[in-house]
Amino acid sequence: MEIFLDTGNTDEIRQAVDWGLLDGVTTNPTLVAKTGRPFLEVAKEILKLVDGPVSLETVSLDAEGILKEARMLAELGDNVVVKVPMTPEGMKAVCSLSSEGIATNVTLVFSPAQALIAAKASASYVSPFVGRLDDISSDGMELISKIKQIYKNYMFETKILVASVRHPMHVVQAALIGADVCTMPFDVLKKLFQHPLTDKGIDLFLKDWQKVPDRPF
Ligand code: G3P
Repeated sequence: MEIFLDTGNTDEIRQAVDWGLLDGVTTNPTLVAKTGRPFLEVAKEILKLVDGPVSLETVSLDAEGILKEARMLAELGDNVVVKVPMTPEGMKAVCSLSSEGIATNVTLVFSPAQALIAAKASASYVSPFVGRLDDISSDGMELISKIKQIYKNYMFETKILVASVRHPMHVVQAALIGADVCTMPFDVLKKLFQHPLTDKGIDLFLKDWQKVPDRPF
């Protein structure tokens, strides 16, 4: 499973790249707004830092407007993936973009039916939002299983990108189901490393190492 960061914060991206763990980045208008920086400045900096796919979101609601924004975004780099909301106009735009060879990510997906439509529009990625479903007492991960089954039934090539991830168990469950990508906030990525027994084990090894005679380091 590929690991993407869901952020507009370039310091976080730099850190994840440094760890050698980052396969791509997803952004949205909320995440870019959080940076307080101009959109194009942020987008270009992310594209310079990341070799893998970088999702940048359109904001128009009509197909024509989406296409105009998408073509402009695609000019920014070969690894740009244009994020388009799941609406009839959005899917009209995604069909055109797919035939133009522009990669797309259908966002704000909350049902198996929407995921089916995204795949039929030949989207490169579909982004089901697991955390926001959990927030309203629905089962976000159950949606991922259903999409996985539907895509398997018909051999759709659209990649399942698990989004709105809130904690490490979302990541583990996404991997168990076999999602293609999991995008997560930086704090969730950091938590993936952690286990109290690892910290305890390191403390003990370091303490015992001091007892070893003639240590070479
Ligand atoms: O990028 C889309 C998605 O990951 C948003 O997550 O936490 O705002 O529901 P969240």
